[in-house]
Parts: sequence; C-alpha cells; structure tokens
Amino acid sequence: MTFLITAGPTREPIDPVRYISNRSSGKMGYAIAEAALDAGHDVILISGSVNLAPPRDTKFISISTSDEMFEAVQRHADESDVCVLCAAVADYRPAHVSPVKIKKRADGISLELLPTRDILQSLGRRQNRKFLLVGFAAETDHLEANATKKLREKNCDIIVANDARIGMETDENELLILFCDGETKRISRAPKTFLARELVKIFQNSQQKRLTKKMW
Ligand code: CTP
Repeated sequence: MTFLITAGPTREPIDPVRYISNRSSGKMGYAIAEAALDAGHDVILISGSVNLAPPRDTKFISISTSDEMFEAVQRHADESDVCVLCAAVADYRPAHVSPVKIKKRADGISLELLPTRDILQSLGRRQNRKFLLVGFAAETDHLEANATKKLREKNCDIIVANDARIGMETDENELLILFCDGETKRISRAPKTFLARELVKIFQNSQQKRLTKKMW
C-alpha cells in the first residue's frame, strides 16, 4: 500500500523574520512513516519544519505553510491507499504578510488572523475517495467528546486522539482510537515507535476491510 503522512507544524509568516507556529515535534508522524516502511509500504511524507531526518526511501516533501501542505496533500492523495494527517496545522494565518520586518512600537500592535483551510476536512468531503482517511486530535480536555466531533465533522474513517500535554514534544503517548463504525480502542502510554507499529497494523487492516466491503 502507499501511505501519505503529514507531520510536524506549519509556519504562518508575519514578516520575513517572524511566524506563527506550534510545539509539534513531528515525532509521531515520522515514527508512523518509519513503521509503514518497515511493514513494506511506500511512504509519501509531507512535513513541516522539524529537527528530524526524514526516513530513507520515503518520497519526502518539505513544506512550510498550511497552504503549501494543503496543495501537496491534494496533489498526492489519490496515489495513496491510506492518508494519515498527523500534522499540527495552524488554524490561523496573518491576514497580511509584511514584505519588510515590522519595527517595534511602544504602543503594541494587533495582528489580524484568518482561518487556514482544513486539509483533513477537504479530503473527507471528496466523493468516492479510495483511500482510508485518518485524522489526529490532540486535546487538553473532553478528549473523547472532542475527538468524536472531529470524526463526524471531518468525515474520517479513524481519529487517533491523545492528550496534548502527554504527546507534545515527547517520545511517548497514550492513544484513544475512534472508528467511524463506533468501535473504540485504547493503547496505554508507550513509546511513539511502538504506537506507530500498532497504528500501521490497524490502518492496513481497516483499509483492507473497507475494500472488501466495497467489492460486495
Ligand atoms: N487539520 C487539518 N487542517 C487544518 C487543521 C487541522 O488537516 N487546517 C487536521 C490535523 O492534521 C488533524 C485534525 O485535523 O488530523 C485535527 O486537528 P486539530 O488541530 O486537533 O483540530 P482542529 O480542527 O484544528 O480543531 P481545534 O483546534 O478546535 O481542536
């Protein structure tokens, strides 16, 4: 199978030297890429800026902004059997990007922010998509309720939910996996490399089940 994986943060520029971003390390996405390769799959890894070396043998696409990630995902989704959108895409971007460095002012400044495009939702809206669609949800509260809402609103097959306070910038995580048929599965705290191997097995089986169902 071919896995398309997004990983890491996006950066939304304010001026030539500043941007809005978040604390995503990319570790979960890169671990999934590594595990998918080990399981014999092809991998397209679309990544924001992180301090990790891309695994060898991936088709690696480096992006910076949410718009660049959006375009790269749209271009490659239909070549994929499983799309795993693990990236922490910024929800907002500055309405105006200054071409020159903004100078410090004694009275402070306000930034106007506009929403970015939701990449996961755009794939969920595709009619007759062939690929399995997996989203992530990093939450700090009401984990299951928030993740269930995302599963429904973004029309995914699977949402992998985790507590942002455990998973961000660390090597470990604890997962709650929600499936569109209402099934749930918990994986207790473990290294991201272990979780990635479990997730790849789950995604592969889910896509096989989807295809078998479609044939009948
Ligand atoms: N996502 C995306 N495009 C965006 C924002 C999010 O594709 N512009 C994807 C993420 O990659 C993840 C999922 O949507 O797979 C959930 O992201 P998250 O940031 O948890 O949710 P949001 O929809 O941004 O909602 P909120 O920030 O309110 O929790």
